[in-house]
Amino acid sequence: MSDALAEHIEYLSLPGRNALFRRAIAAVLKPGGLAADLGCGVGVLGLFCLEAGAGKVWGIDSSDAIHLAREVMTKAGMAGRYKCISGSTFRTELPEQVDLIICDHVGFFGFDYGIIGMMRDARRRFLKPGGTMIPQSLDLMVAGVSSDACLAKAAGWAQEIVPPPYRWLDELSRNVRYSHQLSPDDLIAAPVALGHVDLADTNTDFYRFEAMLTATRAGRFDGVAGWFDCHLAGDVRMTNNPLSPDSIQRSQAFLPASQSFAVEAGDQIGVSIRFRADDMMISWTIQPPHGAPRQQMSTFKSTVISPADLVKQPDRALALSHEGKARAFVLAQVDGERTGAAITAKVLAEWPDMLPTEEAIRDFVTSVLAHHCAL
Ligand SMILES: C[S@@+](CC[C@H](N)C(=O)[O-])C[C@H]1O[C@@H](n2cnc3c(N)ncnc32)[C@H](O)[C@@H]1O
Repeated sequence: MSDALAEHIEYLSLPGRNALFRRAIAAVLKPGGLAADLGCGVGVLGLFCLEAGAGKVWGIDSSDAIHLAREVMTKAGMAGRYKCISGSTFRTELPEQVDLIICDHVGFFGFDYGIIGMMRDARRRFLKPGGTMIPQSLDLMVAGVSSDACLAKAAGWAQEIVPPPYRWLDELSRNVRYSHQLSPDDLIAAPVALGHVDLADTNTDFYRFEAMLTATRAGRFDGVAGWFDCHLAGDVRMTNNPLSPDSIQRSQAFLPASQSFAVEAGDQIGVSIRFRADDMMISWTIQPPHGAPRQQMSTFKSTVISPADLVKQPDRALALSHEGKARAFVLAQVDGERTGAAITAKVLAEWPDMLPTEEAIRDFVTSVLAHHCAL
C-alpha cells in the first residue's frame, strides 16, 4: 500500500494536471452523466467527475490503489456514487454503459502505457453510442538528445564498475525505453511533429511514423526524445513538452541510439517509430547523417524471455509447475465452509513439505486466499 501512496502522490502533484482534467470534464460531462474511470488509482479523475455533476462513476484499477479509492470515497460520503472495481479493465464487465470514459494512461510518449488498447476496448464495451472520451487524441513529438545523464542510463551496463560477466547486457539496455526529465539544453535537434493518434480510431492496429530531425549544434547524438501534446476534450490540451511553460512536468521518453554518433549543425537525422495498438512494444530506427549505418532498436530486444513466455507456443503440451500444483491444492480446500485458519491447518497437515518452512507455507496460503477468495 505504501507503494501506491508513493506512486499516486506523484500523479496528483504534477503541476496543472488536475486543473486540466477538471476543465476537460467540465467541457463534456452532462449533469447526471455516468462515467468510467479507467486505471482509476486512488480515484481522483472520477472524483472530479462527481464534483462536476456526474451521477455515478465506475472506478476500475488492478492495483492496491483501488482499496485507497474505496476508502477515500467512503470518507468523502461518495461511496454511493463511486463504485470501485478491483481488476483489469480488460476483464471487467460493467452493469451499465456510461456517457464518459476517462483515464490518464498517457505515459511519457503518449502511447507507451497502453492507452490505445485500453481505450479501444473500453470504448467498444463500456461507452454508450455518442458517448465521450477523455483524452481524445495524441500528437506525438520527437527531438534529438545529447545528454550525459541519458547516455548513462542507456550505457549503464558497460561501465567499469559493472563486473565483466554482466557487460554484455549493454546490448540489451540500448533497446530500452527510458524516462527522463529533459531540459532544453539536452536537445541537440529541435522538436518536430511525429504523428497523430486518434483514440476513437478502432481500425489502426499498427502505427509507423517517420520524422527528419535537424541538428541545431555540433555534438554527440545519443538518441531520440519523445513526448505528447494530448487533446483531453473541448479546447483543453495537456503536454509534457520540456520546452513549454505549460508542461505538466511529467518526464519524457528517451529512446537511445545503439551507438551515439557525432553531428554537425544542420545535419539531418532520420527517425522512424513503430508500435502496435495492443501491446507496449516499441521499435525505432535512427539514420545518422552522411550515410552511416542505420541503427535499429526495439524494446523486444531487451525483453527477457521467461518460461512463462513458452506457454504461448501453440504446439507445446503443458503441465502444472510446482507452484501451480501448490496453488491448485490450496484452492481445492476452499469449500465455502472452512476459514482461512482451517485451510492453512489442512494444507500444513496434508502437504507439510510444500515449501521449505512452515512460515513460507502459511504466507503462501494467505496470499493465494487473498487473491482468489471472496467473503
Ligand atoms: C497513471 S496511473 C493513473 C491513476 C489515476 N487515474 C490518476 O490519473 O491519477 C494508472 C493506474 O492504472 C492502473 N492500471 C494499469 N493498467 C490497468 C488495467 N488494464 N486495468 C486496470 N487498472 C490498470 C494502475 O494500477 C495505476 O493505478
